[in-house]
Amino acid sequence: MSSIALQTMKSSVSRRWMSAAAVPLTRSLHTTSASMMASAADAKEAKIKTLEIYRWNPDKPTEKPVLQSYKVDLNACGPMVLDALIKIKNEQDSTLTFRRSCREGICGSCAMNIEGGNTLACISKIDKDTSKPLKIYPLPHMNIVKDLVPDLTHFYKQYKSIEPFLKQRTPPTDGKENLQTIEDRKKLDGLYECILCACCSTSCPSYWWNQEEYLGPAVLMQAYRWMIDSRDQFGPQRREKLQNKMSLYRCHTIMNCSKTCPKGLQPGAAIAKIKLMMATE
Ligand code: SF4
Ligand code: SF4
Ligand code: FES
Repeated sequence: MSSIALQTMKSSVSRRWMSAAAVPLTRSLHTTSASMMASAADAKEAKIKTLEIYRWNPDKPTEKPVLQSYKVDLNACGPMVLDALIKIKNEQDSTLTFRRSCREGICGSCAMNIEGGNTLACISKIDKDTSKPLKIYPLPHMNIVKDLVPDLTHFYKQYKSIEPFLKQRTPPTDGKENLQTIEDRKKLDGLYECILCACCSTSCPSYWWNQEEYLGPAVLMQAYRWMIDSRDQFGPQRREKLQNKMSLYRCHTIMNCSKTCPKGLQPGAAIAKIKLMMATE
């Protein structure tokens, strides 16, 4: 008998053995452990946390916003604030409105004000202390579309205004790649990671009061990202656009922006570097 035929026979024997004996055994083990886990969960006392969530309905514009209370059993909920919001929406109140997409701090859509600070709901752990409620509001000083959803139209318009893309007069001669040294690429670290969640801009007092004209920390940090990109050839024009009283110089270095950034970036420092460039180049 050839070795291939022998192997085939052995594996079919072992498969038969699995199907005849091991599978029922495995199944019964799974069933037992699943039922043990279920009864352990049943045995756990409910740990009820109150969430107080900002509600406003655009279909009832004359009604004032309210904080609505919901109760969630933390033992039957994921650990993050977004898990609780999704659970409430699925099980208690489908009208509760918020944005979310990636659930891992990448898309920036679940930015909101949690316990007084702007952050991402998907990477914020629920405070397990059930003696005090968890308060959730939308990002501050923004027009609200509904509940926890801020209107970011103006924020994105401002982002568009800084032309957040590579601009060149003389593209690479071979018509292919824009090469960059490792050192020049490193200069973009701490800048390119911004997910445009708007947590920083909406925590900035200057942006609260002047957002029609002041670009705010998120957009200014991206302006800086393109100013220092070694492949971009429009640095002087980019700086010229900020040479007015409002776009850049409304930043008073209060640094709320850097404190709140859920990605650990430093928009306040980037703004300071733009100011230095404007003064020296
Ligand atoms: S450092 Fe500038 S941008 Fe940041 S919070 Fe303060 S004023 Fe706003
Ligand atoms: S700098 Fe931070 S807080 Fe500001 S938009 Fe980018 S990721 Fe969000
Ligand atoms: S859901 Fe994407 S950052 Fe929170």
